[in-house]
Amino acid sequence: MFDRNIKIAPSILSADFANFGQEIQAIEAQGADWVHIDVMDGHFVPNLTFGPMAVKAFRPHVKTVMDVHLMISPVDQYIDAYADAGADVLTAHIEAGPHIHRTLQAIKGAGMKAGVALNPGTPADAVAHLLELTDLICVMTVNPGFGGQKYIDMTGKVRALREMIGDREIHIEIDGGMDPNTAPLMAAAGADVLVAGSAVFRGGSVSRPEVYGENIRAIKAAANAAL
Ligand code: DX5
Ligand code: ZN
Repeated sequence: MFDRNIKIAPSILSADFANFGQEIQAIEAQGADWVHIDVMDGHFVPNLTFGPMAVKAFRPHVKTVMDVHLMISPVDQYIDAYADAGADVLTAHIEAGPHIHRTLQAIKGAGMKAGVALNPGTPADAVAHLLELTDLICVMTVNPGFGGQKYIDMTGKVRALREMIGDREIHIEIDGGMDPNTAPLMAAAGADVLVAGSAVFRGGSVSRPEVYGENIRAIKAAANAAL
């Protein structure tokens, strides 16, 4: 099951919000490896997206991996709702509260893979005592809240995490500003899951899905060429 091959996880934050079902089907048909879902609460981050009922409605359309990124605070009271919604991976921010260890325990206890996300200002060391509870570390390469922002280089942090992880089965995911120019830097540093919103959906639509395919392949090929 676990592998470190480069995986592209389009963020549906850049999809047509009136047409999520068809958008998810289109990106998967065009080669998306995972589907990344950005949950924002208007409190932990300035923007507001969708909650567990919407995520549950996406579930039947997702045939790959439903990767749910919570940008909410507090987290713990919503964990069961996202398990019920069918999240495969549930990621919480280390900055979202004082008890990330408990949060990761609860996510795993609810039967999901547990992810921990780090804002650009949070050091790699912050996860040192969480590795046994963690299936994925999400390194933010933008400040969370919006798609289409400028990439912030986190090469040193990703290298440090890759070293810290060793042979543990923990994914390193990169979120923010991934495109064919920036993805190779993160792949070379040790990342395996690349989230991309604007760079996947740019120029395409459900009636022009082949553009999604071209965009996904361009990011993946650039990343693989750096290995
Ligand atoms: C940012 C979100 C990202 C975002 C990425 O808060 O977590 O997943 O959608 O979008 P791009 O690829 O456009 O930076
Ligand atoms: Zn995200």
